[in-house]
Amino acid sequence: MAFSKLLTVLSIVVAASAASMVLHERRTAVPSGFVRRGAAPASEMITLRVGLKSNDAGGLEAKLRSISSPGSSDFRQWLSMDDVRACILNPVSDMADEQLQVKTFTQPSADTVSAFDAFASANGLVPTVISPNRDWVSITLPVSKANKLFAAEFDVFTHPSLKDSITRTLSVSLPSELVGHVDVIHPTTAFVVPNTRLVPPGRQISARGPAASCNSSDPSSVVTPTCLQELYGIPTTPATQSSNTLLATGYEDEWAQSADLAQFLKLVRPDIPPSTTFTLLTTDNGTNPQSPGDAGFEANLDIQYTVGIATGVPVEFLSVGGPLALDDFPAALFDTTTFLDGIADPPTVMTTSYGFTESFFGLSVATKICNGYMALGARGISVVFASGDGGVRGNHDSTDVCTNNTFMPVFPASCPWVTSVGSTQGFAPEKAINFTGGGFSNFFPTAYYQTAAVDGYLDTIPEDFAGTFNNTGRGYPDVSLQGWNFQMVADGEVILEGGTSASAPTFASIIALINDRLLAENKPVLGFLNPFLYSKASSAFTDVTTGHNSGFVCPASSVAFDAAVGWDPLTGFGTPIFPELLAAALA
Ligand SMILES: *[C@@H]1O[C@H](CO)[C@@H](O)[C@H](O)[C@H]1NC(C)=O
Ligand SMILES: *[C@@H]1O[C@H](CO)[C@@H](O)[C@H](O)[C@H]1NC(C)=O
Ligand SMILES: *[C@@H]1O[C@H](CO)[C@@H](O)[C@H](O)[C@H]1NC(C)=O
Ligand SMILES: *[C@@H]1O[C@H](CO)[C@@H](O)[C@H](O)[C@H]1NC(C)=O
Ligand SMILES: *[C@@H]1O[C@H](CO)[C@@H](O)[C@H](O)[C@H]1NC(C)=O
Repeated sequence: MAFSKLLTVLSIVVAASAASMVLHERRTAVPSGFVRRGAAPASEMITLRVGLKSNDAGGLEAKLRSISSPGSSDFRQWLSMDDVRACILNPVSDMADEQLQVKTFTQPSADTVSAFDAFASANGLVPTVISPNRDWVSITLPVSKANKLFAAEFDVFTHPSLKDSITRTLSVSLPSELVGHVDVIHPTTAFVVPNTRLVPPGRQISARGPAASCNSSDPSSVVTPTCLQELYGIPTTPATQSSNTLLATGYEDEWAQSADLAQFLKLVRPDIPPSTTFTLLTTDNGTNPQSPGDAGFEANLDIQYTVGIATGVPVEFLSVGGPLALDDFPAALFDTTTFLDGIADPPTVMTTSYGFTESFFGLSVATKICNGYMALGARGISVVFASGDGGVRGNHDSTDVCTNNTFMPVFPASCPWVTSVGSTQGFAPEKAINFTGGGFSNFFPTAYYQTAAVDGYLDTIPEDFAGTFNNTGRGYPDVSLQGWNFQMVADGEVILEGGTSASAPTFASIIALINDRLLAENKPVLGFLNPFLYSKASSAFTDVTTGHNSGFVCPASSVAFDAAVGWDPLTGFGTPIFPELLAAALA
């Protein structure tokens, strides 16, 4: 009792002293497109989620580097759900609780938990643990109190593509006693808007009817599963391992339609039962309504090109619901990883065709999300993301950015712990499509597994290159494949769709099929892919050497990267050759 009173007194002193606040994250300006409407009402209640520092993110990274590196003694010895949370390396039955805590990875240390609890109780806050790894807590408090406790200035902001206004601050600080214990407070400085779906404008109703295969002499040919199977050597024989599941994520009220999937399969995969379907998973009150008009083009594309390519692999669709999925994409991404953190038998591959311009997330939010993918990778989940549809100019380019030569990377594609998939177009040879998202992160340094590949590419950039980008950043994408004129069904209509959104689920399906073959031979699944892709598997791709990623809208004359021999930030290593990738995986 006396102790907690003492803490209260100390905290008041600390809170009252401006010098004890340490700046955590700050924006110098309101992000483009947003308008500040004034101060958030002082008495309005705001719910903030607080990301507590993991006990040993560095230890988890070291472990992941080891288990994902071909040649290491523990190669592909993926961790269990409990190992990631709290890895007890040498369990001793009478080990005291504090000693156990020392060995946790993602779970915060006892010191961190008590530091935050002391802060909360001193300030009359009641934290609720909201994640299985206990690394997230939420607090609900009046805006006036949030402003004071975090030296913030919560304002109301609007954006033309947001239905409702949002409450954010341009600056957030931590009281000194929380420094080193809190990684992120959200929502504070992250400003992401909807339209995170990575499909470019200009979808068309297909007048061409079903196409049996790609026609290499016709670059405008329709792409179907059969075409992709022929092009990349993807087998049509069904997978056999029921424990090997492939997960497609869905945000922004994108709903996958069963009737459309059945129609699609009848049209383009008549060799598999049209009743083949997916399993629905939900989080944050997600739903998946099936009435006419409910079809999500993105969700349908993701489901049709997983079920339609990963023949026989059980496919899951995760519908992330609630207002978060519409106006708080970072929170929806947090909730996706924490959902999987609590599942003991997770999918072996997760594919996501959503993303947004990196700078809008802010460093602390992007880093915490990215570390969440690191933890999934350590469990043997291959985390696949579409690389973006604006070329070098963000998730979608627009006419007002065409002459701005400061390139804008896309997140989560830029996270070093995901495998980022770009798009190609045409056949024999394929070339990088204009919108393929690619470049270099401003948040994450060049990944340890890709330094040679990135250095090789940087050597090709001319001295007088007009583009400004971070040449010490993580380069992406890692790989690529077709991303245009994909035949699909939406609301009963056969249409053509494109985007890195089409490429990512197709690549994820290839990985799932390889996992099936590995499991059939009692071998561990591929898990975190990149160290393997950048070493043993780099020759299992057809190099794509032409193309310019100036964007879908911006003219081809706009400054952008050019594809080159070897790895490049438009197509990565190029397009997959299934038999060679499988051979490298089995070796
Ligand atoms: C391939 O495309 C060319 C040019 O459009 C066309 O003339 C030819 O008939 C097509 N071949 C097949 C087999 O569809
Ligand atoms: C889910 O629904 C419940 C009950 O309506 C609500 O209390 C909760 O806030 C919702 N969660 C999200 C993330 O929207
Ligand atoms: C160009 O884009 C960068 C990155 O988004 C931005 O910081 C800068 O303000 C833009 N410059 C102009 C002149 O719009
Ligand atoms: C470039 O990337 C590095 C490494 O991630 C980072 O530390 C630096 O801040 C970035 N520079 C800019 C201008 O964003
Ligand atoms: C980018 O490529 C797509 C697909 O080929 C095409 O429809 C679009 O017109 C191209 N954009 C520009 C600006 O050339």
